[in-house]
Amino acid sequence: MATLTPFFLFVIFSLFNPSTPSPVSLSVTPTVLAASGDPIRIQWSGISSPSKLDWLGIYSPPDSPHDHFIGYVFLSSSPTWLSGSGSISLPLVNLRSNYSFRIFQWAESEVDQHRMDQDHNPLPGTTHLLAESQRVRFGLTRGPEQIHLAFTDKEDEMRVMFLTEDGGGKQYVRFGERKNRLHEVVAASMARYEREDMCESPANGSIGWRDPGWIHDGVMTNLKKGVRYYYQVGSDSGGWSSTHSFMSRNWDSDETIAFLFGDMGTTTPYSTFIRTQEESIATMKWILRDIETLGDKPAFVSHIGDISYARGYAWLWDHFFTQIEPVASKVAYHVCIGNHEYNWPSQPWRPMWSQRIYGTDGGGECGVPYSLKFNMPGNSSEPTGTQAPDTRNLYYSFGMGAVHFVYMSTETNFLPGSKQYNFLKHDLESVDRKKTPFVVVQGHRPMYTTSNEYGDAPLRERMLEHLEPLFVKNKVTLALWGHVHRYERFCPVNNFTCGSMEQNGEDWEAFPVHVVIGMGGQDWQPIWEPRPDHPNDPIFPQPKSSLYRGGEFGYTRLVATKEKLTLSYVGNHDGEVHDMVEILSSGQVVSGHEADVADHALVHSTFSWYVKGASVLVLGAFIGYVLGFVSRARKEAAMRNSWTPMKTEDI
Ligand SMILES: *[C@@H]1O[C@H](CO)[C@@H](O)[C@H](O)[C@H]1NC(C)=O
Ligand SMILES: *[C@@H]1O[C@H](CO)[C@@H](O)[C@H](O)[C@H]1NC(C)=O
Ligand SMILES: *[C@@H]1O[C@H](CO)[C@@H](O)[C@H](O)[C@H]1NC(C)=O
Ligand SMILES: *[C@@H]1O[C@H](CO)[C@@H](O)[C@H](O)[C@H]1NC(C)=O
Ligand SMILES: [Fe+2]
Repeated sequence: MATLTPFFLFVIFSLFNPSTPSPVSLSVTPTVLAASGDPIRIQWSGISSPSKLDWLGIYSPPDSPHDHFIGYVFLSSSPTWLSGSGSISLPLVNLRSNYSFRIFQWAESEVDQHRMDQDHNPLPGTTHLLAESQRVRFGLTRGPEQIHLAFTDKEDEMRVMFLTEDGGGKQYVRFGERKNRLHEVVAASMARYEREDMCESPANGSIGWRDPGWIHDGVMTNLKKGVRYYYQVGSDSGGWSSTHSFMSRNWDSDETIAFLFGDMGTTTPYSTFIRTQEESIATMKWILRDIETLGDKPAFVSHIGDISYARGYAWLWDHFFTQIEPVASKVAYHVCIGNHEYNWPSQPWRPMWSQRIYGTDGGGECGVPYSLKFNMPGNSSEPTGTQAPDTRNLYYSFGMGAVHFVYMSTETNFLPGSKQYNFLKHDLESVDRKKTPFVVVQGHRPMYTTSNEYGDAPLRERMLEHLEPLFVKNKVTLALWGHVHRYERFCPVNNFTCGSMEQNGEDWEAFPVHVVIGMGGQDWQPIWEPRPDHPNDPIFPQPKSSLYRGGEFGYTRLVATKEKLTLSYVGNHDGEVHDMVEILSSGQVVSGHEADVADHALVHSTFSWYVKGASVLVLGAFIGYVLGFVSRARKEAAMRNSWTPMKTEDI
């Protein structure tokens, strides 16, 4: 009887509540979109007793069950919601299936505290459907999407990867030095992965899994050095992309330029099951500014792990690649693996000491989307131990101008005796320092950090024991890490001891400078250390070896000539340089002392060429996808309601 009562009351209530049968109208325009990022306008009217929790569910495919929305927006984010009608604009990303929208009524009393998203916000209730929209689709012959470039092992090549809905037709890359004469044509190979390749939920579940489409991979060959090439991807039957261009690699150029960061993620114009990273918009915006400003100088991007933060929710990968395309279609986009691409409880290499380090952060993806959606140089791979394709893009290196760049995996075996250790040792020992005086090593989890991050301590111990001696012996210039969502620059260091940075005398040591650059977009995290005796008064100890710590989101910019390498930290709030370090080819650190850093005059004079006239250039097509006002609406909608996102230590 007790369980029947609410139902009974509901029926009686419905019979006597005149608002129940009121027709709510819901319409969408347009219903055919040309490309990812194009907005639709959703309008509704006729809600007779609006609740501030009424919400719009976003469905793809359109026949998904009510609780399998990919995201939602509160109707109260429209200023006119109290009148029972309103409208919302949403840019949509092509998920290779149609979309539909549904409006549900939801009340505070129906909030189910047991169905929470990752931010501990209750997932909206689907009991009272008010209206369903017509379907929205993406037009045919639009050409492939999610275009991104990468270097290969050959200096005169450029790889381009892209996505199509079906594998029906062979895809091609056509390219050339003149925009209207793309006479060179290469066929792309294609691959896909299946639901059964995912290791766990949410990645293999009905909510997280979506068909990933077909991934195409073409290599443009015989490129001249340092020349602008134009290209298109697609096919006559399936349509061609718009024309993009890039500067080909110039392996003996005088200047090497790269934009480096970790932990960026992506964002959606709606709330979804897990937290997304709105700051990624600003990170891409400023890097695009820098690339536009560079003109005909080649550069590349380095994103060192925790890439899309999809964690098993497939559509977030689509958002990520749509969001980076304005950058990644112009310069090579290089990656290494992070915990959020990979970790799952039965991952093949999981020694006793790492049990608490390698958890479930990959959301059941177990490295499969990462391995197929990117194709980095080298041929490193590890079996997944399941039917899924091997994990690739683990460790590799390439030279560019004055710098030898090395990428490693902190998620798979790096201990002496492993393939990775042998690769790192051999690679570091065989760099010709006359040709590339600088060596930059990058990996996801830091060897050095002073954040309150005890969990990874056993891993750091092993990195310090086994990798640091390799780095020191082979005079690694810079070691860049992510995972901690901050910027932190250390002194040239060995075994926690700073090498001398004496500027005038000869008394200096060429130790690696470690920098944590995980400030690309995922939520800020505190560095404080709780004290047992004063739990409410955390302290912020900054040891002598840590020279600069910043909580500002942003990225780093590396500029190197044969004589000098400069790494600067650009903050997203103003696009300006907030810290920098300069290292000579001898290994001597010539600036980046605490005192120098405060000297903004130096910072500005060195980098003014970057900023000149640049800010106007970025307000183009990208802003169309920037979602600014929509995400603000989402934030405000979230704020108007009684819960606020809780910060978990999700790194
Ligand atoms: C999307 O809808 C159209 C009709 O509007 C239909 O022809 C098409 O097959 C649908 N696409 C998918 C992927 O279901
Ligand atoms: C997801 O993977 C887990 C672990 O392999 C398996 O037990 C489960 O049945 C899978 N779920 C689906 C829906 O395939
Ligand atoms: C992988 O690359 C290394 C170095 O380029 C080479 O020695 C090795 O034979 C390659 N292995 C495979 C399986 O191709
Ligand atoms: C690192 O320093 C500690 C203490 O300062 C010392 O005990 C240890 O032997 C050093 N390790 C190496 C490899 O030099
Ligand atoms: Fe991480």
